[in-house]
Amino acid sequence: MNKIPIILDGDPGHDDAIAWVFAKADPALDIRAVVAVSGNQTLDKTTLNARRVCALLGIDAPIASGAHKPMNGDPVTAGNWHGESGLDGPALPEPDQPLSPLPGVDLMAKVLAESSQPVTIVATGPLTDVAELLLAHPEVKEKIGQISIMGGGLTHGNWCPGAEFNILVDPEAAYLVFHSGIPLLMSGLDVTEKALIKPSDFPRILAVGNQTARIVVGWLEFFYRFPMELGYSGAPVHDPCAVLALTHPEIFQSRELYVDIELQGEYTRGATVADFRGRLGKAPNAACMMEIDRERYIDLLVEALQFYHGREVAI
Ligand code: RIB
Ligand code: CA
Repeated sequence: MNKIPIILDGDPGHDDAIAWVFAKADPALDIRAVVAVSGNQTLDKTTLNARRVCALLGIDAPIASGAHKPMNGDPVTAGNWHGESGLDGPALPEPDQPLSPLPGVDLMAKVLAESSQPVTIVATGPLTDVAELLLAHPEVKEKIGQISIMGGGLTHGNWCPGAEFNILVDPEAAYLVFHSGIPLLMSGLDVTEKALIKPSDFPRILAVGNQTARIVVGWLEFFYRFPMELGYSGAPVHDPCAVLALTHPEIFQSRELYVDIELQGEYTRGATVADFRGRLGKAPNAACMMEIDRERYIDLLVEALQFYHGREVAI
């Protein structure tokens, strides 16, 4: 099988971590690097979380720290969703490999330069690293085959009425990515808020019966607290959609749309604005996931967790 080489860039983050559970378990993917970005928590915390999740999952690709703040402005964090550590809940193993000495952007550029085939970037946090990669290393842009993101929302926001967290944290970065000309798969709130994992799903996941399954349920139990208070029927586990849009497009319904990023506006900065009716006359720049088969989503999580049998690590 020709594997798809990927770079994981995220802000773990409970749903980033579960996205990485899918990525490591999928034989179609070859994880070439992991880069932590500031987002759900500060960079020091997302970096430590990334290292611990990689130790848990057996991801042996190089890990680096990316951007500690957005291109403009100060970091924005989401401790209300992810806790003080950024990944509160079950205990995790200590890191099992040193952090790369390279800045995240330089590690991404190195992986791209050395790859014999185009590499897909799976970005599940603010897009600061991806934008800075494009600015600092234009020579490797052609080696980026596509970018699959969790971010945005074509009809609503979450961090504020008009904007989703990942895009709102760094709208300028998102603007550069959406204007890069690189093929984009966009999993915004339109689909990720339908990617609900409900308490009624937890027993089936737990029944997989290994350490990783138990930790995933622990993450879900923590992560569900806040959306439950908001009235969600389950945890909107956003980030795995960015992986599954690559590996299982059949569980989604998507639309090819021209999407731009609002940089101004008291209420609209960070909005992802889709030209549903083609009014702008611009060619689509993103395949936007709109619907998901939730039952298949849960099936695929249970299937992915089987991969971790016999891979328990000391905690
Ligand atoms: O808005 C949801 C996104 O923000 C997810 O990627 C979550 O991990 C946070 O980064
Ligand atoms: Ca994330």
